[in-house]
Amino acid sequence: MPASTPAPRGRARIAHIGIAVRALDQVLPFYRDILGLDQVPLDDADGAHIAGLAAGESLVELLEATRDDSPIATFVARRGPGIHHICFEVPNLDDALDRCRQAGVRLIDETPRVGAEGRRIAFLHPSATGGVLIELTE
Ligand code: CO
Repeated sequence: MPASTPAPRGRARIAHIGIAVRALDQVLPFYRDILGLDQVPLDDADGAHIAGLAAGESLVELLEATRDDSPIATFVARRGPGIHHICFEVPNLDDALDRCRQAGVRLIDETPRVGAEGRRIAFLHPSATGGVLIELTE
């Protein structure tokens, strides 16, 4: 395997934080009306309705399961509502995945796919990330 490209320093940022909820309408008013975050329209993805809320250059994504066998439904059933994943934007997703592979970081998505914001994404397994489900996008 060829050596991976070094990570560009200081270029990753938090794109969004995914929060699993039982019902969007129970939680959305807090973020929208009390914190005053602007709502951003997002399509459903991965079996979840998503309410996007802009917090500076990052989003909060409230995730409500649309079916009982979706990842969000499983998460809420096992652990209750709460932070589900953190998405980092990186300059080059393919290079970042190469670095993960070289470092033995377990990937959930071996190849990038299209995520909720219409951008290429890939999930990493929490076993290598301090116990946090990490999504990468570019
Ligand atoms: Co996400």
